[in-house]
Amino acid sequence: MTNKNLFTIKDLSFCYTLGTQKIEAIRDISIDIPSQSLITFTGPSGSGKSTLLNILGLIEPMQEGQILFFDEEISHLSERKKNKLRKFKIGFIFQQFHLIPVLTAEENVKYFLSRQKLPRIEVKRRSKEALESVGLWEHRMKKPTELSGGQRQRVAIARALAKEPEVIIADEPTASLDQETGREIMDLLRHLVREKGVSIVLTTHDPMVRTYADTNFHLQDGRVIREEQS
Ligand SMILES: Nc1ncnc2c1ncn2[C@@H]1O[C@H](COP(=O)(O)OP(=O)(O)O)[C@@H](O)[C@H]1O
Ligand SMILES: [Mg+2]
Repeated sequence: MTNKNLFTIKDLSFCYTLGTQKIEAIRDISIDIPSQSLITFTGPSGSGKSTLLNILGLIEPMQEGQILFFDEEISHLSERKKNKLRKFKIGFIFQQFHLIPVLTAEENVKYFLSRQKLPRIEVKRRSKEALESVGLWEHRMKKPTELSGGQRQRVAIARALAKEPEVIIADEPTASLDQETGREIMDLLRHLVREKGVSIVLTTHDPMVRTYADTNFHLQDGRVIREEQS
């Protein structure tokens, strides 16, 4: 699996319809996204970053074009197959962390694993390993309100990691954090790509975040106008 592209995107277009108005959010994008890499999408507000990420995360349905995930065509899967991919292969991190406030850090990680119906001992092993990888094992009994913004985002990263996904998808994961904390989160994500071989695909408007990417795709008006390798 390691030599293949994570995503192969061919002739992808996507339109929102608002009444009689059509908004072309993605216009004919064809790109290869390599696996085991940190990939960023940059571009001005409204350039289509979130839309593209939502399509890759199988949150927004496909309209035109084709997407391969490794070698599998995922453009027109049934809801059941999409759910399965989201459940086992794709982890998500959000700008606002989306933790459950009444649960501890460890419970937050375990709760999201419950959908995979793993044996309890495996759930325990994975959540411990994930919390250790983000440096939060000592804080596992704390609830989100007892943690800093950076620590909350680490819990969210642990939650995504514990799935042992092929890819973690993150829309503006550092946008709610100050620069220094944002850097720490990016250092951690960079480290996880190297150590765990997971791929990370994220959007950002922050030039600092972009410097962490192996490959950056710059969007404008729904098109990829530049691909930059580091
Ligand atoms: N749910 C929606 N309904 C209608 N238009 C939308 C919706 N979401 C985004 N758009 C429009 O699609 C375009 C791309 O938006 P988006 O993908 O959110 O860009 P970005 O994340 O780069 O800011 C913009 O013109 C935006 O206004
Ligand atoms: Mg956006």
